[in-house]
Amino acid sequence: MAGLAVNVDHIATLRQLRGVSYPDPVAAAVIAELAGADGIVVHLRRDRRHIQDRDVRILRKVVQTKLILEMASTTEMLGIALDIKPDLVTLVPERREEITTEGGLDLVVHKTVVTETIGTLRNSGIPVSIFIDPEPEQLKLAHQTNANMVEIHTGTFCDATTANKKKQAFSKIVDAIKLSYKLRLGINVGHGICYNTIKAFKGLKEINEFSIGHSIVSKAALVGMERAVKEMATLIKEL
Ligand code: PXP
Repeated sequence: MAGLAVNVDHIATLRQLRGVSYPDPVAAAVIAELAGADGIVVHLRRDRRHIQDRDVRILRKVVQTKLILEMASTTEMLGIALDIKPDLVTLVPERREEITTEGGLDLVVHKTVVTETIGTLRNSGIPVSIFIDPEPEQLKLAHQTNANMVEIHTGTFCDATTANKKKQAFSKIVDAIKLSYKLRLGINVGHGICYNTIKAFKGLKEINEFSIGHSIVSKAALVGMERAVKEMATLIKEL
């Protein structure tokens, strides 16, 4: 059965909006775990717009399930990851002006640096995932980088505004899952998944984990973190 990794970045977004000390993503992570999360995800961005270094350090000590660090493939982030030793690093592209991660890492362009980063992390015993678009070429390159797994970008499917576009985008995700499985890459999926779009993933047993943030934190703002996580975990169990 697939797991649920809860991304608590946007708890930190709320805190940083006012420059105060609450709400604390560490508290949100603890509640998420108690409610059934199988992992906690944070993206430490270069501009520190939400998650701060202090959050990652405290989470490393507090998280009981697994801590997944999303990061760009830079020297600064590599140093932090080697120091903190998360349970998994997910390499993502990062553009300063984007609202959120807009697409997968383009391995046609970045394969060399990504391969080097993966080598360094894996030599330190840290498994690595690459966030990529559901494109066969990207998956074949991901396989060559010696990544442990991929996280397939589901944003195009989740954000599609017509039934036809949704169908096309989902069939690419299914093909990408099948190819990743053939290539013996572990498979996570994420970006834009909400309480409705999650239902489309029924029967895709190759998926290891769903990485979900914005929809859970949005629901948590209204009904509480515990209920928001439990409801998503239940939907995943039903897949
Ligand atoms: N996976 C990756 C690689 C991401 O960058 C994000 C967004 O931070 C997510 C999953 C979660 O996306 P969402 O917040 O839309 O659920």
